[in-house]
Amino acid sequence: MSVAVKLEARRVAIKYRRQSTGLDLVAVDGVDLRIDDGEFVSIVGPSGCGKTTFLNAVDGLIAIESGALVLDGREIAAPGPDRAMVFQQPSLLPWRTVTGNVLYGLEMQHRGGEESRKTAARLIDLVGLEGFADSWPSELSGGMQQRVNLARALATDPELLLLDEPFAALDAQTRETMQQELLRIWGATRKTALFITHDITEAVYLADRVIVFTARPGRVKLDVRIDLPRPRDLRLKREARFIEYERTIWESIREEVLRTESRAQVA
Ligand SMILES: Nc1ncnc2c1ncn2[C@@H]1O[C@H](COP(=O)(O)OP(=O)(O)OP(=O)(O)O)[C@@H](O)[C@H]1O
Ligand SMILES: [Mg+2]
Repeated sequence: MSVAVKLEARRVAIKYRRQSTGLDLVAVDGVDLRIDDGEFVSIVGPSGCGKTTFLNAVDGLIAIESGALVLDGREIAAPGPDRAMVFQQPSLLPWRTVTGNVLYGLEMQHRGGEESRKTAARLIDLVGLEGFADSWPSELSGGMQQRVNLARALATDPELLLLDEPFAALDAQTRETMQQELLRIWGATRKTALFITHDITEAVYLADRVIVFTARPGRVKLDVRIDLPRPRDLRLKREARFIEYERTIWESIREEVLRTESRAQVA
């Protein structure tokens, strides 16, 4: 049985024009990637290697310089309702309740009404916020706000969920809880997901595949299939097979960091 390819990146290069110097900075160069429908893929790599840049291009927020980015057979040219992004900071609207925030994306797409309110209520329950539908963002903890953020991203029923270090601002305990919750929610929705993190354990725990980017300009250095059964629980993190995956990925990133450090010393 063949699985449909959801997202394909072919030799993607992305540049920025630096305001200070007027010179180009090549952020990513030659990213090749195929992600199947329903796959959960983590991206890791050294700081500044172009992970956020790549995700923003998939979201349609920035244009690529060359190559191709294809979602469901169509080239990505602009943001669209088939994608939703979850950022590191929850970025909720403080003057809207939890329900109001979850409804926001739907309203932007002119999809208000009774049906949307039902969708919002269902998602608020799904992310574990039953009883908080009428609360204000300022009344919620960081973890709860990030749950609202996730519900808001899911509300428009996107084809592709893009997550850029969504748990980075949370404490260690809340972070693990959110990892479990995300797996539960992902199990219930089976959205194709692209998840950026600096946390190797988190990357392995969540994903079907972990992609390691090289140092800037970023491209795919390593693509590891995480062959661990689902559903997963936190004890998995202590198993030898899990630790072996972590080690492989850690060494791959370490190699990139060392390579750039020695380059900097020569310069
Ligand atoms: N708006 C911009 N203008 C110019 N350069 C940029 C811009 N945004 C990012 N860059 C540069 O592009 C490179 C890649 O940045 P990016 O934010 O994609 O990295 P990252 O892998 O997400 O890093 P981190 O892990 O620290 O979040 C960096 O060298 C950064 O300085
Ligand atoms: Mg980033």
